[in-house]
Amino acid sequence: MLWKDKYELGVPLIDTQHRELFQRVDAFLQTLRESSSWEEKVQRVNETLEFMNGYVVEHFHDEEIYQKKIGYPGYEAHRKIHAEMVRYVLQVTAEYKQKGFDQQLMQQFAGKLLAWLINHVAAEDQRIAAYAIERGAEADD
Ligand SMILES: [Fe+2]
Ligand SMILES: [Fe+2]
Repeated sequence: MLWKDKYELGVPLIDTQHRELFQRVDAFLQTLRESSSWEEKVQRVNETLEFMNGYVVEHFHDEEIYQKKIGYPGYEAHRKIHAEMVRYVLQVTAEYKQKGFDQQLMQQFAGKLLAWLINHVAAEDQRIAAYAIERGAEADD
């Protein structure tokens, strides 16, 4: 499992979504790596793209609402990073619809998803948690 407990933000809804994201990307990578049948791979790609276009968009939205709620100063910049990722997913989805399953394209996609997820959750998203703690400490003064 690629998920690490240190990625937790301490916000149950967000943490659950992050865990789900890691699980899906993990399963996607595994299906691509294994000598699964063409049908299995295509099915997993369909599933993953549907998930990325739905659940991920929802997660970004929920996380942005949380940032607004705590008055996170990096909100605008963070929202842009999310929007860029959504654009990338849409682009890959369009390419897939046009060309069909392509092992190389999908491996590239899975690799980028994983790298992005780890970097984003372990760095960008952690800053939200750090700010919430800092702000909490201030509120106690
Ligand atoms: Fe996130
Ligand atoms: Fe985020």
